[in-house]
Amino acid sequence: MRHLIDIMDLTGKEISELISTASDIAARPERYAECCRRKKLATLFFEPSTRTRLSFEAAMYELGGQVLGFSEAASSSASKGESVADTARVVGCYADIIAMRHPKEGAPMVAAAAAGVPVINAGDGGHHHPTQTLADLFTIYREKGGFENLTVGLCGDLKFGRTVHSLAAAMSRYSGVRFVLISPEELRVPHYIVEDVLKANGVPFIETESLEDALPELDVLYMTRVQKERFFNEADYLRLKDSYILTGKKLAAARSDLAVMHPLPRVNEISVEIDDDPRACYFKQVINGKFMRMALIMKLLEVEV
Ligand code: NCD
Repeated sequence: MRHLIDIMDLTGKEISELISTASDIAARPERYAECCRRKKLATLFFEPSTRTRLSFEAAMYELGGQVLGFSEAASSSASKGESVADTARVVGCYADIIAMRHPKEGAPMVAAAAAGVPVINAGDGGHHHPTQTLADLFTIYREKGGFENLTVGLCGDLKFGRTVHSLAAAMSRYSGVRFVLISPEELRVPHYIVEDVLKANGVPFIETESLEDALPELDVLYMTRVQKERFFNEADYLRLKDSYILTGKKLAAARSDLAVMHPLPRVNEISVEIDDDPRACYFKQVINGKFMRMALIMKLLEVEV
């Protein structure tokens, strides 16, 4: 049985196959409308979410399946002290597949060991978020035609931003990829990403505090929100929250074919005046994410069209 806990659980070939399936779903969704008939997805969200949970739910409904679950820890037995392993084992008796978001790093892995059905990590603390990465990869593929030889700027909260950690790992597989890591000193990418992902794979990268300096050379700019919920102290959050704001004026210095991405929710990081710029891809990521989640659910449930 396969789970998706870390984006590196999928090979490069499997990611290409998911992209092919997602492309076909986008082109002719009616072919897939009955694929998961009588199958149930459980969404166990112990942390707030709009996009990811609703995207999973929409994905399952569009495959003809059904959805059950909860959207906050307070409405589950976690509030009575039940362990993640027990909750997963119980839900595995009701559902064919589980998508779980949890504030603790590693919780979906614990669930996978107990559930008896495939478990998808829908975000674990400040660690990883592999299905957002599937959305991001499909978007980069559609916008850029592939992954090779891209200069990718990752900007904002690179320390706590789990989407950044998964995307950096996934992109480090492709040749000619370079990273420009743009963050305040306090929010630099964690040591394990630098050592085990970037250096271990020989991926060139630079770290800078200046978005303006980096912008002209980028093919992809991935903006992120400062992760308020992972700060220990409010004063630090307030000081850092508006470190980077992409405005139309700044964007004027960027390439005409730059892809501006953001996993959303956005707070202040991208000025709304950019939303209608052809380089803005963040709402495309939302729709691409649903198609990739559909492809992923089919793969893990081993259903064919
Ligand atoms: C992200 C997350 O939950 O990590 N949101 C999402 O799933 N699209 C990004 C964020 O919360 O900043």
